Amino acid sequence: MQKTQFAPASPASAAPEKRAPVAPVRFFGPLNPPISDWRGKSVWLVGASSGIGEATATALHGSGARVTVSARKERALQDFVRAHPGSRALPLDTTNRAAVQVAAQTLLADGPLDCVIYCAGHYTAMRAFAMDLSDMERHMQVNYTGALYVLEALIPAMVAQGHGHLSVVGSVAGYRGLPNSLAYGPTKAALINLAETLYLDLRDKGVGVSLISPGFVQTPLTANNAFDMPALISPAQAAQAMVNGWARGEFEIHFPKRFTWGMQLLRLLPDRLFFALLKRAGL
Ligand SMILES: NC(=O)c1ccc[n+]([C@@H]2O[C@H](COP(=O)([O-])OP(=O)(O)OC[C@H]3O[C@@H](n4cnc5c(N)ncnc54)[C@H](OP(=O)(O)O)[C@@H]3O)[C@@H](O)[C@H]2O)c1
Repeated sequence: MQKTQFAPASPASAAPEKRAPVAPVRFFGPLNPPISDWRGKSVWLVGASSGIGEATATALHGSGARVTVSARKERALQDFVRAHPGSRALPLDTTNRAAVQVAAQTLLADGPLDCVIYCAGHYTAMRAFAMDLSDMERHMQVNYTGALYVLEALIPAMVAQGHGHLSVVGSVAGYRGLPNSLAYGPTKAALINLAETLYLDLRDKGVGVSLISPGFVQTPLTANNAFDMPALISPAQAAQAMVNGWARGEFEIHFPKRFTWGMQLLRLLPDRLFFALLKRAGL
């Protein structure tokens, strides 16, 4: 019987493969280049007709950034532009890949983009015994695939320019499975994983990546929640926390800490304990 021959991966006689130098790991420094001076910076906020996106656009405009706001509600975007001279509106549905490409090209034609924040989000409380597949697919399209369209349109240009920052707005609801989160939670879990992978791939290309993990924020998205939202904050407080996180060069910017530290602890619990705690809490 003929023996299978396994070729060595690199013959002993071959010259050792030259590896690109790896940047030293700075364990205690900021994970991203900190951003504290926003003057003149070109910033695109996708999902900024209300809530966290609008409040962040307002805060960054106030700090001197050149802000472009996108979302579907054209009138809300125009109101923003009227109230914030020098800003610009690019109406857009993020589930439309071609429209995202066109908007990105329009922005890039004006010069490098310094920061892009994907805030577009869709949320309906849903449980497994009342599953609505089309709405679940809608969550995936707006919350996750829309982010991919934006990244597809921008990453090559940002890598070529060798600087810039990408932020995706996830949620602490992506840490673990939660009641009412059948449609929403998995999209946010996907964004968390996506942001970590983007960070690893882009950190040596000069492009910063951050994950925004809000707790409860009072916005149209949460207006229909029928339960008490612990540690609820305003969109302006959320925007301030994001600005602080970018200034510290954080990878994950989570807030308010009095709520999100607890959620991070839940994330570490063994399944048995986690499920028991939720049952005890009547969830
Ligand atoms: N509020 C919270 O407690 C909370 C907590 C954790 C995470 N978040 C996340 O924070 C982000 C912002 O949400 P928010 O709370 O500020 O709610 P919001 O005020 O409802 O903002 C959602 C934004 O997404 C835009 N959007 C939705 N579908 C879109 C689409 N197909 N194309 C383009 N834009 C679209 C909306 O604008 P148009 O309707 O005009 O398109 C709006 O500007 C979301 O990713 C949300 O999941 C919120």
